Amino acid sequence: MGPIGIFDSGIGGLTVARAACDLLPTESILYFGDTAHLPYGEKSPELIRKYSTRIALHLVNSGCKAIVVACNSASSNSLEQVRDVVGPNIPVIDMVHPIVESLYNSTDDLGSNKSVGLIGTRATISSGLYKSAIDRLNDIKDVKLELLSRPTPLLASAIEEGFYNDTIPSAVLDAYLEDGFFDKVDSMILGCTHYPLVRKEVISLLPKSVDVIDPPAIVAEALKQKLEALGILSDKEKIQNRFQVSDLTENFKLGAQRFFGSDIDLEEVVLS
Ligand code: DGL
Repeated sequence: MGPIGIFDSGIGGLTVARAACDLLPTESILYFGDTAHLPYGEKSPELIRKYSTRIALHLVNSGCKAIVVACNSASSNSLEQVRDVVGPNIPVIDMVHPIVESLYNSTDDLGSNKSVGLIGTRATISSGLYKSAIDRLNDIKDVKLELLSRPTPLLASAIEEGFYNDTIPSAVLDAYLEDGFFDKVDSMILGCTHYPLVRKEVISLLPKSVDVIDPPAIVAEALKQKLEALGILSDKEKIQNRFQVSDLTENFKLGAQRFFGSDIDLEEVVLS
């Protein structure tokens, strides 16, 4: 059986790759970060679709048995197109639906004024996919979960530059959150691959009652359940993880280590 293909606009999706490796230690990963074209968060839906489908095809042609769209901007703008190009036999796991579904699984008394906050890139927020996924589940479950969302575009670049665990992301976050827009939410979605690195800072800037969700762990669990359901979990001990990027620079090498949490070798692969 082939590896699990995981892709992102860059190296932020390594937070999801890390969670997948931790949860599924006998699976091999083929990661692709489109560093030549990031940030997707500022691109048009058309361009995000063009890049995402090209990468998805590359992963399928490389023998991947499942695809994880480990980028909120790509999940929000190109999921349908990615599913179309990979075909019905390869499962595609995105960042949006597992997170939204987990909100309904974890809250017992949904329906009585529950609300959830969302921060992410412009492309993610303006796509409206989180909203439509929530509206759909509200209808199915006959509840009224409300979504409050706001783009926080400066945050990903600050984190990518290595500013986390310090005052800079807190100052950036404060600028976006200080008006109390999210103070009444019950939970908060970190709708960008980079934000798990500043989860602590988000927690400290919101009221204590707000549950700040950790998306990589939830998406990794959704991946595991999907592989189990399809009977395509690997039982081999020997794994081979590969990490590809479309543009390899020293800065990306450093960043990759930060996002994945340990040293990895990146190889440059240019897709045509
Ligand atoms: N990976 C992107 C996301 O999760 C953030 C970086 C970008 O804008 O490309 O939305």
